[in-house]
Amino acid sequence: MHATDFIVARNDLQHCKLIETRLPDAAALPADALLVRVTRFAFTANNITYAVAGYQLKYWELFPAPKDFGNIPVWGFGEVITSNHPDVAIGETLFGYFPMATHLVIEAADVTRRGLRDGAAHRQGVAPVYNAYARVSGDPVFTGKQGDYQALLRPLFMLSFLVDDLLGENEFYGARRVMLSSASSKTAFGLAHLLHKRSGIQVIGLTSAPNVEFVKSLGCYHEVVTYDAVTSMPDDSPVAYVDMAGNSGLREKLHRHFGDRMKYSGQIGLTHRSTSPNEPTLPGAKPVWFFAPDQIRKRAREWGPGGVDMRFAAAWAGFAPNLDRWLTVTEGRGPAVVQQVYLDTLNGRVPPDQGHILSL
Ligand SMILES: NC(=O)c1ccc[n+]([C@@H]2O[C@H](COP(=O)([O-])OP(=O)(O)OC[C@H]3O[C@@H](n4cnc5c(N)ncnc54)[C@H](OP(=O)(O)O)[C@@H]3O)[C@@H](O)[C@H]2O)c1
Repeated sequence: MHATDFIVARNDLQHCKLIETRLPDAAALPADALLVRVTRFAFTANNITYAVAGYQLKYWELFPAPKDFGNIPVWGFGEVITSNHPDVAIGETLFGYFPMATHLVIEAADVTRRGLRDGAAHRQGVAPVYNAYARVSGDPVFTGKQGDYQALLRPLFMLSFLVDDLLGENEFYGARRVMLSSASSKTAFGLAHLLHKRSGIQVIGLTSAPNVEFVKSLGCYHEVVTYDAVTSMPDDSPVAYVDMAGNSGLREKLHRHFGDRMKYSGQIGLTHRSTSPNEPTLPGAKPVWFFAPDQIRKRAREWGPGGVDMRFAAAWAGFAPNLDRWLTVTEGRGPAVVQQVYLDTLNGRVPPDQGHILSL
């Protein structure tokens, strides 16, 4: 039996291809290993960021590929088809981080009733969240359309939840208006949904002209402004900037426009892939990368065991019911569809109301 992997050239993301490898027999798998069939996975701009930051944040190390190529990590589901672990049954469903491939070998470690970890040596250089798998067989929250929403949005909404928490904890650094770039992205509208619930905070969505109507239709931005019109915003009160676009030119324009009234400038994403390594010193708050694991660790200490999960679950419960109105889930199966969705996402051709669930 063969596995199929979809791989991309690490230094030229437009170049992608499929490769086939032989699947190992059960006897050839390490002790405690599982062979998992990757059944469905989500694909959004966030996965492109994994590729862009593949070297820097070690994402390329997770799922090895031939020289100069990488396998982009995706969030999704797998079914255990071979198990060398006494506590994990064939047929179980796992939710977590998978390669764009038909199969993955997981070296099961720390197996509990709720989850397990891939203990493979080559995966240990990344944050623990990327090696954790939830055991979700029969769980209605991870089944059908709810499961699609989990794969598409759960990891993104965790970021939205953490940024909302950071801003709230710091009283918005004195700002009363928060601007979000790439406002049409799932991560941004998850954050806008949370910020919109806070009293006295105005949420401003910055987006490209074709996505204005979608962003307005969400109902969680008080105001929507196109990128070419940002300097027309009033500059007379303190603002915070949460940047999903990673566009250096836009960041500079905003900092120069608001000057010292720019109270927080947090970098989250790279949808526009135009961050310059040599940015000038900008007026206002110094731009800083938001690093999610730091905020999780801090809150885990302060809130105690289960505290983050409990609050996140409550936030998700308020967010998920909107998704039927905001998103259309599109299922795609097979190499040609996967390649098309990959290239469309890479080149910014996916309408923001689409959520792609794929399998090879
Ligand atoms: N730091 C973290 O831990 C973390 C966690 C989650 C997400 N993120 C980041 O947040 C960003 C959003 O991710 P997502 O998965 O939520 O995105 P998504 O829903 O797929 O976002 C789609 C939107 O992004 C913009 N976009 C996408 N591709 C583009 C391109 N090639 N050129 C120009 N604009 C493009 C467009 O928005 P506009 O027209 O509105 O600009 C588009 O409507 C990503 O950069 C992701 O990496 C970071």
